[in-house]
Amino acid sequence: MQIPIITKGFSKIYTEGQFTVNAVSDVDLQLDEGEVVGLFGPSGSGKTTLLSMLGCILRPSGGSFELYGNNVVFQDDRKLTELRKKYISFIFQGFNLFPALTAFENVMLVLKLKGIEGNPAEQRAIELLSAVGLQDRIHFLPRDLSGGQKQRVAIARALAADAPLILADEPTGNLDFVNGRKVMEVLNDLAKKQNRCVIVATHDNRIEDVFDRIIYMEDGRVIREKRREG
Ligand SMILES: Nc1ncnc2c1ncn2[C@@H]1O[C@H](COP(=O)(O)OP(=O)(O)O)[C@@H](O)[C@H]1O
Ligand SMILES: [Mg+2]
Repeated sequence: MQIPIITKGFSKIYTEGQFTVNAVSDVDLQLDEGEVVGLFGPSGSGKTTLLSMLGCILRPSGGSFELYGNNVVFQDDRKLTELRKKYISFIFQGFNLFPALTAFENVMLVLKLKGIEGNPAEQRAIELLSAVGLQDRIHFLPRDLSGGQKQRVAIARALAADAPLILADEPTGNLDFVNGRKVMEVLNDLAKKQNRCVIVATHDNRIEDVFDRIIYMEDGRVIREKRREG
């Protein structure tokens, strides 16, 4: 078994002219397969920055990072792309949907990139959209969907990528309680049944009870961790 994530002294300093921001400071993490981890903290505490570095889309200022046994070298763009493709599925804060494609086509596109086409792809796309409660919106364009529904298409699309590590930035941010829980159920199910590792950055206290572990951040530091009892 490989460990999805090990970081040591992971840090990010942003420099803006003469000002510097310690967005992430000295974070040591180890995350395991099948684990659903919540990254909690107020706005500005470094959640998105940490998630972006774990997703290999932002270069850290210091520390080391091992992703499924691979030492991640941020200077090597070709290798980074390869690692991202192989291991990572990202659910962004914005929706990143293709506006001219329906919900169904948005998901089909990702399946096609994975080499899945024809009937199996169609069935899989319907399955994924149904799992997030959009079975009756399959052929809608993004502009005809609400914010919450777009968010769920983005989640179905991320699931279509079928990566072992799923990173989600505020995935329930614009969902009501019921749909927020539905999304978390889908992610939880995936982690447990397929041994994925799921990390969710959020400040949504309504979903605190769904996580195996919660990591609390403040001013770029991990200030506390809480594991689910039992
Ligand atoms: N591209 C950037 N350039 C400069 N500062 C940034 C940048 N992105 C984030 N920051 C700063 O880094 C800190 C952490 O931000 P962020 O990771 O977005 O926190 P969160 O996701 O918890 O709200 C904040 O003080 C923010 O202003
Ligand atoms: Mg954020």
